Amino acid sequence: MDSMIKDITLAPEGQLKLDWAKKHMPVLNLFCERYKDEKPFKNTRINICLHIEAKTGCLALALKEMGAEVALAGCNPLSTQDDVAAALAKAGIHVFGIHGADEKLYNDCILASLENKPELIIDDGGDLVYLLHHEKRELLSAIIGGCEETTTGLNRLRAMAEKKELSFPMIAVNDADCKHLFDNRYGTGQSAWTSIMSTTNLLVAGSTVVVAGYGWVGRGLALRAKSLGARVIVTEIDEVKALEALMDGYDVMPMTEAAALGDFFITATGNCDVLRREHFEVMKDGAVLSNAGHFDVEINKEELTAMTKEIVPARENIEAYHLKDGRTVYLMGEGRLVNLACGMGHPVEIMDMSFAVQIGSLLYLREQGSTLEPIVNPVPREVDLKIASLKLDSLSKKIDTLTEKQEKYWHNR
Ligand code: ADE
Repeated sequence: MDSMIKDITLAPEGQLKLDWAKKHMPVLNLFCERYKDEKPFKNTRINICLHIEAKTGCLALALKEMGAEVALAGCNPLSTQDDVAAALAKAGIHVFGIHGADEKLYNDCILASLENKPELIIDDGGDLVYLLHHEKRELLSAIIGGCEETTTGLNRLRAMAEKKELSFPMIAVNDADCKHLFDNRYGTGQSAWTSIMSTTNLLVAGSTVVVAGYGWVGRGLALRAKSLGARVIVTEIDEVKALEALMDGYDVMPMTEAAALGDFFITATGNCDVLRREHFEVMKDGAVLSNAGHFDVEINKEELTAMTKEIVPARENIEAYHLKDGRTVYLMGEGRLVNLACGMGHPVEIMDMSFAVQIGSLLYLREQGSTLEPIVNPVPREVDLKIASLKLDSLSKKIDTLTEKQEKYWHNR
């Protein structure tokens, strides 16, 4: 199999990024060390559809070291880092992704990666599973199972499973504690704000930030905005989450009211049209819009464009929408995942844990996949506990254990 990448001569810069990430991924490295002789994925073809950047590269290389034949495709056209893609291709991973690919090239890359004829897969957002079930059905019977990284992907998979359309078992990596409690909350919280601040060079302190959605991602975004000195407004459609946001110290109101107040807006709902015409109509001149959800559907760009006289680049990764009424609103990263389209994704140590959950889940599938139903299955609790324990070790943190008396008390309550 050949790779489809931009330019192999970019490999040295990509290699530096891979080296930096690997140095800060102790849990992944421990997995590698533990299995590098045993090679549990020997003769196993694994397809990965993830953001092609350095941490993902370390995952792909770890799986290769554990014996797998690995093909990697991008899961978002703006998150692919061409230098990392080149370094990975040089290191023997089959890589299919080019930064800025249009929709056709993006799909063609995923389809081309499937020449690897996978037995195990890792998906992020559900596009790989979708294309397998719609355009490459002849490959379905060989697949033991797969892992899904995100909330959005799991929603798509659960809809498929409900209609009995899923052909192999999937593992809900996103739902593991060692994934969403850290990655969705602290990973997005830090990386989205890092991207917004470095791309805009604007001050967050004293501004009004509107966070749409109070799932784990929204919680992280709001927490970090508050710590940066912003006044935070949360919008929700779920009563309990709205109440939680209120008691966490944020203001809560419908977007129709929040739209007129925000300086920065970040969507994190997984749904479409969270920001739409009725909201754009009342926004302040200069409002900055970004999205932290998986797909670029949360900000309705068509409706924004229809209200616009002219769209011009304002800075790298920011477009100015000069509206017909004289106001300007700024859209970051074309409304795609702001932390990856305008930045480098989650912090390395966060992806260390998320990708360790991926490896733990693939090992589980390798052993137990044939006994699992073609539905969305949980990550075994032991995987979560093992990863948390390795992570604590890597941070030189110890915890308490129960005494004999406590054990007895606990079990005979
Ligand atoms: N880097 C690789 N995958 C990522 C993800 N799902 N979110 C943020 N950063 C990432």
